Amino acid sequence: MTVKTRGLEGIIVGDTAISTVGKEGVGLTYRGYDIHDLAAHSTFEEVAYLLVYGELPTLTQLQAYKDKLIKMRRLPNELKLLLETIPASAHPMDVLRTGVSMLGTLESETAQYSGHQIADRLIACAASILLYWYQFHRNNVRMETWNSEEKTIAGYFLHMLHDKKPDEEQRRAVDVSLILYAEHEFNASTFAARVTTSTESDFYSAIVSAIGTLRGPLHGGANEEAMRLITQFKTPEQAEAGVKEMLAKKAKIMGFGHRVYKISDPRSDIIKAWSQKLSTHARDGYLYAISERIEKVMWDEKKLFPNLDFYSATTYHFCGIPTSLFTPLFVMARLSGWSAHIFEQRANNRLIRPEATYIGPAPRPFIPIQERG
Ligand code: COA
Repeated sequence: MTVKTRGLEGIIVGDTAISTVGKEGVGLTYRGYDIHDLAAHSTFEEVAYLLVYGELPTLTQLQAYKDKLIKMRRLPNELKLLLETIPASAHPMDVLRTGVSMLGTLESETAQYSGHQIADRLIACAASILLYWYQFHRNNVRMETWNSEEKTIAGYFLHMLHDKKPDEEQRRAVDVSLILYAEHEFNASTFAARVTTSTESDFYSAIVSAIGTLRGPLHGGANEEAMRLITQFKTPEQAEAGVKEMLAKKAKIMGFGHRVYKISDPRSDIIKAWSQKLSTHARDGYLYAISERIEKVMWDEKKLFPNLDFYSATTYHFCGIPTSLFTPLFVMARLSGWSAHIFEQRANNRLIRPEATYIGPAPRPFIPIQERG
């Protein structure tokens, strides 16, 4: 039987033991653990370990994993040199994509340098790649990427970005956001990684495919677009009128809707609570009220709910993170989920190769160029 749906909607293309998305009565779980429990009680490093190695770590395993990640933050000189030549005007997603690709030429996958080691390495040094480039071009600083006493990836990212010890509330907000962004079944970028993996290509190529796919505004890029939308308005009333006008023109409001979830995104309330908490100390905390009004308008007018990207935008903004770094933060988290999917695909691989319905011209005779007129 041939089934055809646009955008593969509703098509099951494989099995996974990594996460559930929108399954009735289950919501979102990572390897069986509810996202609410993980966000409330665990850390991103625990979740990354769970995804990449299959089980939650013991205290000793977690300590060893964190120490390993800290040691893997340092960048090779050749990569630093490359980052210095990438223009300051480049999008940070392109910087990450290029940085990962370059690392793949310096530390390529071999029998000695396994996929698990590369997964850990990329999770550990994605922030280094991003912020080495950022600080070099913004502040003329050649950042010592390993020189941070921060033990967590969230803390390391904020320390390297702001060049000071992070505020604990902001550090935990970023940590929770990394947990929420870590994994999401067969979303577009994960599927891209699995397609590349299915050709028996290398680990870095699969990750580069995924980063390129995440970049678009219909996927990971939505958090940056949501921020651009929210900051257009100064009051909730203005936001209500502005969004209604956009809807009347059939514009898409970024950060709303979802291909799989139909009633709500189980991650949204968790990140919304962080946005609200941080807004109380923020200079432009009024952006939270604007966001809430946009949420209400979207529900009243379209019955559309915020996805994770919508309140992640203000959460990151209230942590002093520039908008162009929002989607790269998504990458830093999702590297763990992508890695888990690459291993799962490899363990039971078959080339992913769908078919298309041909709608082009009927067969016709070839006319030599001299006779084409
Ligand atoms: N704003 C306004 N209308 C939206 C919308 C949004 N964010 N999301 C969906 N819709 C509307 C569409 O216009 C369409 O209406 P129509 O049937 O009158 O034409 C209908 O809802 C179905 O949308 P469609 O784009 O076909 O759904 P999809 O399953 O292909 O897309 C998304 C899912 C996530 C791509 C889509 O909701 C979207 O573009 N959201 C904004 C981007 C975003 O936040 N992405 C992050 C996802 S986690």
